[in-house]
Amino acid sequence: MSESLIIYFSRAGENYFGGELKNIEKGNTEVIAEYIEDLTSADLFKVEPANEYPLDYMECIDVAQKEQENDARPEIKEALTDIGEYDVIYIGFPNWWGTLPMPMWTQLEQLDFEGKRVKPFVTHEGSGFGSSEKDLKKLCKGADIKKGLSIPGANVYDAKDIVARWVKE
Ligand SMILES: Cc1cc2nc3c(=O)[nH]c(=O)nc-3n(C[C@H](O)[C@H](O)[C@H](O)COP(=O)(O)O)c2cc1C
Repeated sequence: MSESLIIYFSRAGENYFGGELKNIEKGNTEVIAEYIEDLTSADLFKVEPANEYPLDYMECIDVAQKEQENDARPEIKEALTDIGEYDVIYIGFPNWWGTLPMPMWTQLEQLDFEGKRVKPFVTHEGSGFGSSEKDLKKLCKGADIKKGLSIPGANVYDAKDIVARWVKE
């Protein structure tokens, strides 16, 4: 069994790329998560909401904004409950309204991060991590949170070298 784990959220569907709406079959964060899997042989766990987000971008941002305003913990299809066997946990997500999508809160709050090394990565459309690094300190109590990696969504297919350097840090 590998000693590292990647926990991530990513949404396919309609999204903005430099001011233009495009439909993507694989989410940007998933592309990065798979590079990390490839480079480290880490185990991969995707956090999936029980109710999928709308494929339509404008509808999705409305749903996500309401969830955040309500400090919601949306139900997820399957939850990880034990990360005891892992030393390094990569945590990946898109920046949604300045922080992690709420299903990540649902998942991360169920885990014991005491003594773990956490390496966060985010994809975004200009705001980088936003407040998510601060939020991760609350969500991953007791973890040693390492320097994060922030990648614009439009650049993910050119980012494998950057990811490889960051994984080794
Ligand atoms: C609901 C929603 C909210 C978003 N909010 C922000 C934001 O506040 N700042 C930002 O830079 N990008 C924002 N974005 C853009 C995404 O962070 C970016 O497209 C990301 O790469 C999407 O990753 P994914 O394809 O893995 O889901 C938002 C996108 C969505 C769908």
